Amino acid sequence: MSQREVTAVIVGAGERGANAYGPRIHRPGVGRIVGLAEPDDGRRRAAAARFAVSSDACVPTWDELFARPRMADVAVVATGDTQHVEPTLLALARGYHVLLEKPMALDDDGCRRIVEAAEAAQRNVVVCHVYRHSHLFAALHRVVASGALGRVLSIQLAENVAYWHYAHSYVRGLTRRSRVPMLLQKSCHDLDLLAWIAGAPARTVTSLLRPTELTAANAPPGAPERCSDGCPHAATCPYDAVALYARLEPVLNDLARHDRLALRALAATVRRLRPVVQQAPLASIRRLAEWRRWPLTAVSDDASVAAVENALRTTRWGRCAWQVGDNDQPAAQTVDVAFANGVLASFTMHSSADRSMRRVRVDGTHGSAVGELAGLEQWLEVSDHKTGTTRRTDFPVTTDGHGGGEGPLVDELLRAVRDGTPAATSARDAWESHRIAFAAMRSAADGIAVRLDAA
Ligand SMILES: NC(=O)c1ccc[n+]([C@@H]2O[C@H](COP(=O)([O-])OP(=O)(O)OC[C@H]3O[C@@H](n4cnc5c(N)ncnc54)[C@H](O)[C@@H]3O)[C@@H](O)[C@H]2O)c1
Repeated sequence: MSQREVTAVIVGAGERGANAYGPRIHRPGVGRIVGLAEPDDGRRRAAAARFAVSSDACVPTWDELFARPRMADVAVVATGDTQHVEPTLLALARGYHVLLEKPMALDDDGCRRIVEAAEAAQRNVVVCHVYRHSHLFAALHRVVASGALGRVLSIQLAENVAYWHYAHSYVRGLTRRSRVPMLLQKSCHDLDLLAWIAGAPARTVTSLLRPTELTAANAPPGAPERCSDGCPHAATCPYDAVALYARLEPVLNDLARHDRLALRALAATVRRLRPVVQQAPLASIRRLAEWRRWPLTAVSDDASVAAVENALRTTRWGRCAWQVGDNDQPAAQTVDVAFANGVLASFTMHSSADRSMRRVRVDGTHGSAVGELAGLEQWLEVSDHKTGTTRRTDFPVTTDGHGGGEGPLVDELLRAVRDGTPAATSARDAWESHRIAFAAMRSAADGIAVRLDAA
């Protein structure tokens, strides 16, 4: 018997709404996108065409969308970080279930309002904590829940953010100001994983923070304001925008490091041939060299060489990373958490890793688990103290940038909507990671240990 197609509207047809979640919902026999709110004309038209949404169901803002009677089961709220609470509350008031991008809110009060509204309306609000559904963390959670490690004593987790990812998102990008703290914006995923694996609410939180290195005082002498203006340090500066966006060097370097997949030769070939293909007389051939994925999708909707070079000359993406001036996201932050069941967790986020990756270890009375998630690859090793044996699992390659978590996250919400049952994670569950982040920010600012009561 075929299942009912779940319908959805997208609020914010940007990178996440239109490129990540839209296509995962809009599948025959699974779901259909039937409406859009997006102020950018080009993005709105492109998403309408992609999902075959009629023009009268496409509006510029969420206000206009939610002023109308409910037109779908789900609202995908994928607007920017400061714009999550209001559309979510309006969507719930109209009776939508919500797929909500993280962070759910920028303060505790915003989270509380969403949780209370979701519970009062008896609607699912699934916050996009995609890593719970990644191969690595889903398997790690199963191992812990099975009791194979005995009683869990401690968790160590590191989010190693690549130097260029940091420069892209947290120095040149929209999230360069710490009024949306990087710990909340980026690492609420990790704090969520800690709380989920610990299996208890947080009780005490402490945190330390190191300010950014990317300041004008540290800029190499004589560096111009834009990397494309003939910077004398281009050959040695890791943050050179031309190398990052026009030549895609860090992306190709990362590809080359996938040892298990033997991608070194592929990366070398792309590096050699891409400049040649970019000069081809036919536009159809030149397009083969275009990279239509993040981080270039953030820089220019048009991926041609000319458009990218123009963006580097005219937009913030071409600015010298040392001289942006109004960026204050930290170079590193540590967070220690004592959970109500005694589990101790320590988390490090930092901004200067050779490649973006997460490392985790969980130690219990009877065993240890160690895992890594980087780029396309992830693995987990589980050891038994008594027998001395270690079992290693190499997980399938994933290309969603989130360890394969995006598909299962969406599927779980669609299942819950179809079945009329609560989704596996609630808004209240997601609130816990945010509470830890708010407490950590207070701890780092005031130099105190912050105690949390039950929410
Ligand atoms: N879960 C994850 O792992 C993950 C990964 C990346 C980003 N994110 C989060 O996803 C969110 C969106 O990020 P993005 O990269 O897609 O941003 P984006 O800027 O590409 O998209 C946001 C869109 O919202 C639109 N918008 C602005 N005002 C609006 C309004 N009033 N009504 C409707 N639409 C409006 C913008 O025009 C834009 O197109 C952010 O909060 C980000 O932190 C989550």
